[in-house]
Amino acid sequence: MKGVKNICCIGAGYVGGPTMAVIALKCPHIKVNIVDINEERIAAWNGDDLDQLPIYEPGLKEIVAETRDRNLFFTTDIEKGIEEADLIFISVNTPTKTYGKGKGQAADLKYIELCARKIAEVAKEDKIVIEKSTLPVRTAEALKSILENTGNGVNFEILSNPEFLAEGTAVEDLLSPDRVLIGGDNTETGQAAKNALTEVYANWVPKERILQTNVWSSELSKLTANAFLAQRISSINAMSALCEVTEADVDEVAKAIGMDSRIGAKFLKSSVGFGGSCFQKDILNLVYIAKSFGLQEVADYWEQVIILNDYQKRRFADKIIKESYNTVNGKNIAFFGWAFKKDTNDTRESAAIYVADYLLDEQADIIVYDPKVSKEQIYADLEYLNTHSSEEIRARVKVVSSPYEAVEKAHAIAVLTEWDEFINYDWSKIYDAMLKPANVFDGRNILRKEELSEIGFKVFNIGK
Ligand code: NAI
Repeated sequence: MKGVKNICCIGAGYVGGPTMAVIALKCPHIKVNIVDINEERIAAWNGDDLDQLPIYEPGLKEIVAETRDRNLFFTTDIEKGIEEADLIFISVNTPTKTYGKGKGQAADLKYIELCARKIAEVAKEDKIVIEKSTLPVRTAEALKSILENTGNGVNFEILSNPEFLAEGTAVEDLLSPDRVLIGGDNTETGQAAKNALTEVYANWVPKERILQTNVWSSELSKLTANAFLAQRISSINAMSALCEVTEADVDEVAKAIGMDSRIGAKFLKSSVGFGGSCFQKDILNLVYIAKSFGLQEVADYWEQVIILNDYQKRRFADKIIKESYNTVNGKNIAFFGWAFKKDTNDTRESAAIYVADYLLDEQADIIVYDPKVSKEQIYADLEYLNTHSSEEIRARVKVVSSPYEAVEKAHAIAVLTEWDEFINYDWSKIYDAMLKPANVFDGRNILRKEELSEIGFKVFNIGK
């Protein structure tokens, strides 16, 4: 196959945007078009103010500044993008189904299917189509069938190239990935397609880190990776509950076990629970797949990771209520952080949403400060749950643009995201502004407890 000169990526989101920006940076000889149906998102990617890109990731705006309109283009002209491309990445969202069969567990593949049908309609020459979205095992087969049966008689090779970046460190992860995984057929044309994509990554990734597998291993590896990562968090969070009743300290336990090279130190930080668009959705998807193959025990095993995570969020909210003399009715609870983790403006499945929802059930007043999340996003997240009316949410939840404003006459502070800036606030000033006793619930175990206790705060941690 001839060298790749033109790439199209369908989906300008948290994965498509940063991934293609890095490809454009490292492959100046390749033209990269990122296309999306969302006009507002594309306009934001093309905006003059690089601080207003639709996605916040450290290091991203610098790369966009260098590559945009050089060999990186953001457009809503999906047809043209597809027509020009040698390689087409599909990087659209694959949320959990909210209706019909598999509701609440299976991945909703409608956006993927729409992309396949569009590619089939538009493509006039052979193309390599790459699943970048996280998909259930054997989706490539379905894609192939749509492309072959509705297309213009051109040949499509389908590859699976799941993305392992983590939000907040996306650019770093993309620049030096632990590995790049490329799954495809072992036929002659399949191998040529895998090699063509390998050559793109080889512009900056050492070849020994580029793994080629069959397409199903690749699809399943992504779900497995997320299941294992989330399982570590639920495992340490389970221990955090035990630590709290035994006077063990979860951070000490995590350190002690993490030094065992068979276990390793990463992903052992206990917290209010994991969030993000992927872990829950991908594990539920795994559960659904296992069930649909009749593997009930396998499904139950992985589902427990989610059950434990829900328990952890609930436990945190319950702790706030219990330590507030068993009622938060009409009390001001300041939330530090709303994003699902630091260094991102992504709030999907953030623990903050669920903790806020539980506290709203108890008629608390919530004042939120997050350095990167907009007011409208916070309201939208709560409204999406459909458990409280829009009027109630807007009456009870206030979103402010300074932490000091958030704590004015607050009964308690709950730390929901581990933003670094929270650690170095003027905590004496915060103490003075709050009602007493001034309770701090550190859902991320990031604050300097001793210092805060000396000021007068009562600090509650996870797993201590
Ligand atoms: P996202 O929701 O940020 O972006 C998806 C984009 O696709 C949206 O802008 C949407 O408008 C666009 N889109 C949907 N249907 C379209 C269509 N038919 N034509 C053109 N554009 C369309 O989603 P995100 O977070 O980028 O995730 C994409 C995929 O990558 C998902 O499958 C996710 O599981 C996976 N993934 C996400 C990671 C993350 O950290 N967010 C990490 C690794 C994988």
